[in-house]
Amino acid sequence: MKKESMKNILVTGGCGFIGSNFIRYLLTETDFDGRIINVDKLTYAGNLENLSGIEEAFPGRYYFSRTDICDLMEMSAIFEMYEIDTICHFAAESHVDRSITKPSDFIHANVVGTFCLLELARLHSNKLALFHHVSTDEVFGSLGKAGYFTENTPYNPSSPYSASKAAADHFVRSYAITYGIPVTISNCSNNYGPYQFPEKLIPLMILNAIENKPLPVYGEGLNVRDWLYVKDHCKAIWAIMKNGRRGETYNIGGGCEKTNIDVVRIICDFVDKILPGSDENPRKNLITFVKDRPGHDLRYAMDFTKLKMELGWTPSKTFETGIKETIDWYIENREWVKRVKSGEYMDWMKQQYENRQ
Ligand code: NAD
Ligand code: DAU
Repeated sequence: MKKESMKNILVTGGCGFIGSNFIRYLLTETDFDGRIINVDKLTYAGNLENLSGIEEAFPGRYYFSRTDICDLMEMSAIFEMYEIDTICHFAAESHVDRSITKPSDFIHANVVGTFCLLELARLHSNKLALFHHVSTDEVFGSLGKAGYFTENTPYNPSSPYSASKAAADHFVRSYAITYGIPVTISNCSNNYGPYQFPEKLIPLMILNAIENKPLPVYGEGLNVRDWLYVKDHCKAIWAIMKNGRRGETYNIGGGCEKTNIDVVRIICDFVDKILPGSDENPRKNLITFVKDRPGHDLRYAMDFTKLKMELGWTPSKTFETGIKETIDWYIENREWVKRVKSGEYMDWMKQQYENRQ
């Protein structure tokens, strides 16, 4: 069963960064003509505003429910009410630093949450076209200076976050093997783009640079990440959902490795151009090296040959274009930034600041 059966897609975590970009992409840029039911608990990272205008623009095709995916009763009712036939599972606690401070939240959302959804998928397996599970390259652990993660790299997670995602991946595979649930899994590298919560490297550095605040770089800034523009991730997920082989895992990567210090310097240069300060005081002077993240993985890099060969997907945006558009977006959306930074954001940032002195 493929695209034809995907009429009522349950998107979990659709008010977060990637989930909201995915819903917008599906409704505005693809030939998908069914319904999306977005279930999100609205944690600190979930914002209804990320999808403002969507319900009005797509009447009868977009629904939202504020529900915890671990609430089996509520979730069961949603399955029945909307005749869910497909799941695209984004919902998770997603920030590595928070997983170090409070791992229990990660077990709840990422492990128990995925398990609950799998149980519902098992219960409704006669109607289910696909369970797509969105995962991360962090399950593979850290690379040295050379080499790439492939789909066959053994799991070796370092942080409570990546351990919880690895556990979830294993549960998804086990349900495919044991109960015959049609699943696909994607493991993706670091995303950036509009609507990313400003606790992650790129939005944090953009906003601090705009506001002339210190730019905290962990350790020596030599850790390497493989950056991918969020819409390219969304395109890859949809390609896998439509045409990926059931039971298979696909790596998604940007082919864009950069050290953290290089990323921060590039952001500084762009912000200097867009919002010129004084030549004597470029934004680079704001870079501050702070205490490293415990268990900090050195390098991630994805081999996405399988996705390229089987489904013809490659990233479409270069880092230079993507980062420029992202900086423009954060400058143009200062009201969004103000609102997501209210709530418990300031307490968290204060605690981070104190821990890293
Ligand atoms: P995010 O933190 O921006 O959003 C997560 C969303 O999930 C939020 O809207 C939150 O409210 C919701 N949520 C959390 N717990 C929930 C629960 N129990 N029930 C219902 N909703 C809940 O995260 P993101 O960066 O958009 O990541 C989305 C997914 O993609 C995650 O599974 C993450 O592991 C994966 N991923 C992220 C990246 C990245 O670079 N951001 C890369 C690869 C994979
Ligand atoms: O690789 C995919 C993963 O990418 C996803 O699974 C995660 O959900 C997502 O949060 C992201 O994890 P990272 O830990 O790589 O992202 P983060 O933006 O937190 O950090 C990127 C790098 O920048 C990392 O090496 C730590 C460093 N860093 C981060 C912050 C927030 C800093 O140097 N300073 C900072 O203030």
